[in-house]
Amino acid sequence: MRIDIVTIFPEFFSVLDVSLLGRARQSGLIELGIHDLRNFTVDRHRTVDDTPYGGGAGMVMKPEPWGEALDSILSTCEAQGADAPVVIFPSPAGELFTQKLAYEFAIEPRLVFGCGRYEGIDQRVVDYAATRVRVRLVSLGDYVLNGGEVATMAMVEAIGRLIPGVVGNPKSLIEESHSDGLLEYPSYTKPGKWRGFDVPPVLLSGNHAAIAKWRREQQLQRTRAVRPDLLPPENAVADDVAPSAGLERP
Ligand code: 6GU
Repeated sequence: MRIDIVTIFPEFFSVLDVSLLGRARQSGLIELGIHDLRNFTVDRHRTVDDTPYGGGAGMVMKPEPWGEALDSILSTCEAQGADAPVVIFPSPAGELFTQKLAYEFAIEPRLVFGCGRYEGIDQRVVDYAATRVRVRLVSLGDYVLNGGEVATMAMVEAIGRLIPGVVGNPKSLIEESHSDGLLEYPSYTKPGKWRGFDVPPVLLSGNHAAIAKWRREQQLQRTRAVRPDLLPPENAVADDVAPSAGLERP
C-alpha cells in the first residue's frame, strides 16, 4: 500500500519509522510519502491559512496550497498508471473511524491523508478533491485535537497493521477487540499466582470448550459494562453482574 500524507508538520511522522510500521516500510509492504504543505505555497511567507469569511475565531487553511499538493500527488498516481487513491481528511466533523472503516481502507492500494488544523480547510478543497477521487471526512471520536496529524497517525497504524504480513501472527488480528464487535476478553500469563491474585482456574483446566465459553462470557460482560452501545440487540439486556474492577466508566 502507498500512503501519502500532506501536513504542515512533516517531522511529526518520524515515529512511523519505528516499530511494526517501520518494519513494514523497510520490507516494502507500506510505502510512505510525507509532503510539506508549505512547499506548495508561492508567497515569501509560505502562508497556509487566513481569516474565515463570515468572521469567527481561528484561521482557515487556504485552498491554493492544498490544490497544488493534491494535484501533485494525483498526477503522480496517474503518471504511474496507479489506481486513484481515497483521500481522507481527518476532521472532528467527519464520520466515525471504526475497525470496519480500517478494514475498508486496508484493501485500498493508495490512501492520501490531508492533515488540516482543527478550524479546518477551506471547504472548496474537499469539494474539488471529490470531483477527482473518492473523499472521506473521518473523525476519531467526540473530542477535539489541534490538527489532523495525531488522528492520521492513529488511522495509519490501525489500517497498516491489517495489511497482510505487517502483523507477524495473523491470528492475533482475529482474536482482538472490535474484530467481532465486542471488547476483548482479559489475558493472563505466568506466574499463576501473583501478589495474591490468581489466574482464573478455567484457563488452567485444559478444557478448550470451557475456556472458549468463559472468554465469550467475559467479552459480553466487559462490553455490557463499558460499551453497551456495541452489543447486538439480543445481548443488550441489562446485566445484574457487577462489572470487573477498573471497567466502570469514569
Ligand atoms: Cl480526525 N481531527 C481533529 N482535529 N480532531 C479530532 C479528530 C480529527 N477526531 C477527533 N477529534
